[in-house]
Amino acid sequence: MNDIKILAIESSCDETAASVVKNGRTILSNVISSQIDIHTLYGGVVPEIASRKHIERINQVIRRALAEADTTLDDLDAIAVTYGPGLVGALLVGVAEAKAIAYAKKLPLIGVHHIEGHVAANYIEHPDLEPPFLCLIVSGGHTHLVVVKDYGEFEILGRTRDDAAGEAFDKVARAIGLGYPGGPKIDKAAKEGNSCAIGFPRGKVGDSTYDFTFSGLKSAVLNYLNHAEMTCQPVNTADVAASFQQSVVDVLVEHTMNAAKELNMKKVAIAGGVAANTALRTAMEEACKKRKITFYRPSPIFCTDNAAMIGCAGYYEYLKGTRHGWDLNAVPNLKLGERG
Ligand code: KG4
Ligand code: ZN
Repeated sequence: MNDIKILAIESSCDETAASVVKNGRTILSNVISSQIDIHTLYGGVVPEIASRKHIERINQVIRRALAEADTTLDDLDAIAVTYGPGLVGALLVGVAEAKAIAYAKKLPLIGVHHIEGHVAANYIEHPDLEPPFLCLIVSGGHTHLVVVKDYGEFEILGRTRDDAAGEAFDKVARAIGLGYPGGPKIDKAAKEGNSCAIGFPRGKVGDSTYDFTFSGLKSAVLNYLNHAEMTCQPVNTADVAASFQQSVVDVLVEHTMNAAKELNMKKVAIAGGVAANTALRTAMEEACKKRKITFYRPSPIFCTDNAAMIGCAGYYEYLKGTRHGWDLNAVPNLKLGERG
């Protein structure tokens, strides 16, 4: 079979990214232009600014991705693009760009689900990984425990009932004065703290084994901070960060291991921005080792938003025959497993 080269575009939130991917798993380039510096000024992502910055940067990012891959538009077999979920204005920039290139070059257009992309990030560095496997998806907007039954096919076992794991990291980081982006800052601060210092609750959803809840934990952190302020007690930021992080990690690992045992899954993967978390990676790895489960995780650069993962997921959609028309639209609340 001839090589299949896909240009992938990702613009669902605050990263403008493009990548050229060969045969699904070989990354020829992976260009990410982050807007973090700009949004830091506002303490979080400002959707209008994100869209504007995507427009300013997307052509440059694509040009660089092609150049680094030593590829031209004429060498491509398809264009893959994230079309949901995400910020509508941000998604529209990538979708419009992908359509324009695909139309001009008469190439197939493949819309990719952003979360499907996060899961596919695991294929990039693990050539042996094939479905079925269990995957914990933890990003800024999603917390799902799924069985990946086949490429792009998921059975959802559990999901968050309130905040996503990444959202909890971001909100707690703001409360303890670490600012945006919260996840990496808590990860770093926690390394200096004692994870047993404060006994924050482990969120349980009464009627479900696999669903998650983080709002009680978030409230517990806020109550702890308020109480300390009212009683003029000093707050050890590193201890709060480490104890909060431990509480999140314990629940994520426990649910994942329960599912692995129940379903007798011998392969476990993690995906999404929070999968870059040092404590989660270590704890999941140890838990898997103890149970003789093979553990897969993308390098941190492939955990947070990037276009290589979209090219990887797009390749398997390409093989399945998925082709989108010129009416492909951004779907901000696209559900996992749903086709737009
Ligand atoms: O997957 P992602 O880049 O974007 C979404 O699709 O949402 O995830 C972003 C989330 C943010 O909430 C961010 O704080 C979190 O992932 N994150 C982390 C770490 N790096 C990113 N959370 C914990 N530890 C990290 N090292
Ligand atoms: Zn993401």
